[in-house]
Parts: sequence; C-alpha cells; structure tokens
Amino acid sequence: MSQKLQAPRGTQDLYFENAAQFRLIEQTGLDVGKNFGYSEIRTPIFEFSEVFHRTLGETSDIVHKETYTFLDRGGDSITLRPEGTAGIARAFISEGLAQNLPLKFYYAGPMFRHERPQKGRFRQFHQVGAEALGFENPLCDVETLSYAYQFLNQLGLGTRCRLEINSLGDLESRRSFREALAQYLEKYRSELSPDSQLRLDKNPLRILDSKSESDQKILSSSPKFESFLSKDSQKYFDRVLNGLEVLSIPFVLQPSLVRGLDYYSHTVFEFITSELGAQGAVLGGGRYDGLIEMMGGPKTPGVGWAAGVERLVELAQKNLVLEKRTRLGLAPADELGELHVLKIQSLLSKKISVEILWNGNLGKKLKKADQLKLDYCLVVGQREIETKTYEIKFMTSGQKKELTESELLELNWLIPIPVTK
Ligand code: HAM
Repeated sequence: MSQKLQAPRGTQDLYFENAAQFRLIEQTGLDVGKNFGYSEIRTPIFEFSEVFHRTLGETSDIVHKETYTFLDRGGDSITLRPEGTAGIARAFISEGLAQNLPLKFYYAGPMFRHERPQKGRFRQFHQVGAEALGFENPLCDVETLSYAYQFLNQLGLGTRCRLEINSLGDLESRRSFREALAQYLEKYRSELSPDSQLRLDKNPLRILDSKSESDQKILSSSPKFESFLSKDSQKYFDRVLNGLEVLSIPFVLQPSLVRGLDYYSHTVFEFITSELGAQGAVLGGGRYDGLIEMMGGPKTPGVGWAAGVERLVELAQKNLVLEKRTRLGLAPADELGELHVLKIQSLLSKKISVEILWNGNLGKKLKKADQLKLDYCLVVGQREIETKTYEIKFMTSGQKKELTESELLELNWLIPIPVTK
C-alpha cells in the first residue's frame, strides 16, 4: 500500500469499542465537570501561531520542536493546537468574556505535537481538560484537583495514580530562584546536556526536570526552590496542601516538578501512574495567573488541568462500562418485507436500536443477527404483513414468541438488559 494511504505516524483510527471508550471518557469528564459547575467550551483546533509561541514559552519543548506550524494559503502562520489552555485564554480575550467572570470551562478534543511516537505518546492525541478563570483563592486550586480526582475515581483510577504537587511560587520568588539556579549551573555549563545548555540562557528552571542523569547529578546540590519561596507564596501553598488534606486526597510533594509550559505560577501538579512505563503522566495542570495578561488581556487568574485520553483508555479499559442498548434485528424475507421493515424501524428506533439486515438470503441475514450479537430478531415478509402477526426471536435463549403488530410496536416483549461489566 502506498505510504500516503496509511494513517500518519503517531495518529490512530478509532472505531468500534475504542471509539466508544474515548467517548465515554470525554462524557465522564463533562458529567463530573457539570457537577462542579463547569460548562463546555469548544475552540478551534488551529490558531494563529502567536497564540502558542508567545504563551507556552519559546524554549518549551512544545514550541521549540513539537508544533505543527505552517503558512496557510493567505500567508498567515497557523499552528495546530498542542494543548487547550492558550486557545481558551485567546477566546476569553477575543470573545470579551471578562464580563462573565468567573468562568469554569470543560473541553475535550484532539491536540497535536510532533513528538517521537511511542507507547502512550502520539502526534495527534486527545485531551479532556478544565480551566477555571477569575478565581484567586488557593482553595480553588484544590477544587480543581477535587474535580480531577473525582473524574479519575469514576474511571476507577484514583488509587492507581499518585498526585505529585509543587509550588512555583509568585513571580518574585521564581525570579530570585532562577537567578540563583542559573548562577550555580553556569559553573557546570560545559558538563550539562545540550538541551540544558540551551535552557540555561533562556529558562533554567526547565533544567530541573531534565531526564539526563549527569544533569540530575549536577542538580543534586543545586539551590532548592523551597528556600526562595516568598512568605506569601509559602502561605498560599500551605493552604492548598491543607485543602487536599481536608478532602483526603493523597499527594506527594515533588520539588522537581516544573511542568513543560512557561505559563505556570504557584501550584503545579500531575497525576502519575507507574503502569504505563515512561509515559506515566495521566493528567497535569496548575495555576497560570499571568497568562491572560501576557496575551494582552485583562489581568485574570486561571487554574486548570488536562488529561490524556489515550492514556486514560489504556489504564481504565477494564473498568469502562460501555453503553449497552437493546438491539433488534429486522430480517426482510421478500420485497414487501423490505418496505415494511423501514416502517417498523422508523417507529421503534424512537425507543430502541433497530438494524435492518439487508444483505444476502434469509439464512445469511439470520447468521448476521447472531454475529452482531443482537438481542432480538424478527423476520418480516408477505405472510407476516398479511396476518399482522410476527414471531420475535430472543437471541440469547433462542426462544420465540408470537406477537400481534400492536404488541410488537408497544414493545411490551422487551426484557430489560442486565448491566454487565
Ligand atoms: P500537559 O502536561 O502538556 O499539559 O498535557 C496534559 C496531558 O496530556 C498529559 O498528562 C498527558 O496525559 C497528555 N499528553 C500530552 N502529550 C501527549 C502525547 N504526545 N500523547 C499522548 N498524550 C499526551 C497541558 O497540556 C496543559 N494545557 C494542562 C493545563 C490546563 N494546565 C492548566 N490548564
């Protein structure tokens, strides 16, 4: 097959059960969110490149080497969204949503990052996420985490992920720590990995989460952020931790957690699993009080998170109870029957799922009903139409029952389907 006829590297075709699992996770995120007062937002999957380049940080991996950026036919530089927060901040500004503050938005959809694909890492992947705008209270960070935790719990994942949390403090705390860290690392410049050398000039904080062993060795005796947190920032963080304790949400303090994006301040967090190998981050987020202002909007605090749907599906697969509908198959026995099944379908499909078995002879149609694991099957031909009596087959037991046309249409023959896991 020509290469062009395959899905591009790092993308997936989702169908059958897999597509249903994705939808269930997106729906669960929205349902839990509604109970926390969130409503849905949908923003474009592409934006002017500036929306991401200025906000996520020129040295962040995402902007530096992972965006899908191109000139469109009008000559505008366009970027496929690598994440949802910046687009929502843009929408907040351009839609003039400041007058609706505070706001709580839920979103779900595809994101694009030109990363090296591996298990759990894709170039087109899907996120569900939440952004709360206009809340300064540190306990709002906890509320956001409570939503995330409840969402994971609904998927049966609460105990299979651990919450790692850190504070990046306010701007002043970060500035003084950044200076001290850069000064320390400067002494080891030539020993740092090439990526970290680049970051040393532009964003030394990102070196903290370097995967390089030699970088980590150098970092083991570097200045620690805790000692640079201003009193107010420490107080803020203590209040967050206190809130988590009150809600009995277990957490681990993780001083090296800085997150990949430049817009964070104060609280940052990730839910991590050890069941997915290297790509263990299932959900990540934090506070971004400066983002909207940085983009030219009014000063507006924000806090939120996003979770990777592919990773959630991989982890939660066995816990997901997919929707099961009652399914009736209609097998037309002749041309008259073919017309009549359309009528029956249009009436009964208001209540149950009705599939017409169009192809092949009657034997093939009944075999298909078995293959599709339908719950009921009905043969419809001239004889049934003339006598207005039908024989419904209960597919699991093989039993049959005579029905008048009105009984058929009243659905009183339905047996409730047991909910199975
Ligand atoms: P992020 O940590 O870059 O944060 O992504 C959130 C989640 O998306 C990750 O924890 C992971 O599960 C999933 N993810 C990221 N990249 C990939 C990939 N290439 N393949 C599969 N899954 C992936 C953000 O995107 C922030 N916008 C979160 C946020 C919202 N912060 C504040 N508000």
